Amino acid sequence: MPRVFKAIEIEKEEKEIKRDYLDRHMPHVICPDEVKRGEKFAVKVKLGDEYPHPDDHDHYISLIQLWNRETLLAEARYTAGVYGTLPSHVEIDFYIVAPDVSMNLSAMSVCTKHGLWQSEDRAVKVI
Ligand SMILES: [Fe+2]
Repeated sequence: MPRVFKAIEIEKEEKEIKRDYLDRHMPHVICPDEVKRGEKFAVKVKLGDEYPHPDDHDHYISLIQLWNRETLLAEARYTAGVYGTLPSHVEIDFYIVAPDVSMNLSAMSVCTKHGLWQSEDRAVKVI
């Protein structure tokens, strides 16, 4: 079982020391706080706030997944060079339809060199 780097489990001191390393790998779920039942809405998953991730042939982001609690909703796979072999903030918009109950979204990403990363949970109220 691979180690999963989780946003909620990283200590404050570690966050400061490894700030660039952590930032460039950490996925963020960006979406409305509240959505209407049955309506389609966008969920953006973006890696890193400040530091872009490399896009080298042996070091790149290969997978992004969107989860609602324990259910995998969607995923996107990448090959090396998609971002022109330049460091970049990998991002993708998933479009999903709001179910009957509120959601707790999270994202996972895989770096070919630095493993599996899990975002913070993002609560989305369905009205
Ligand atoms: Fe990496």
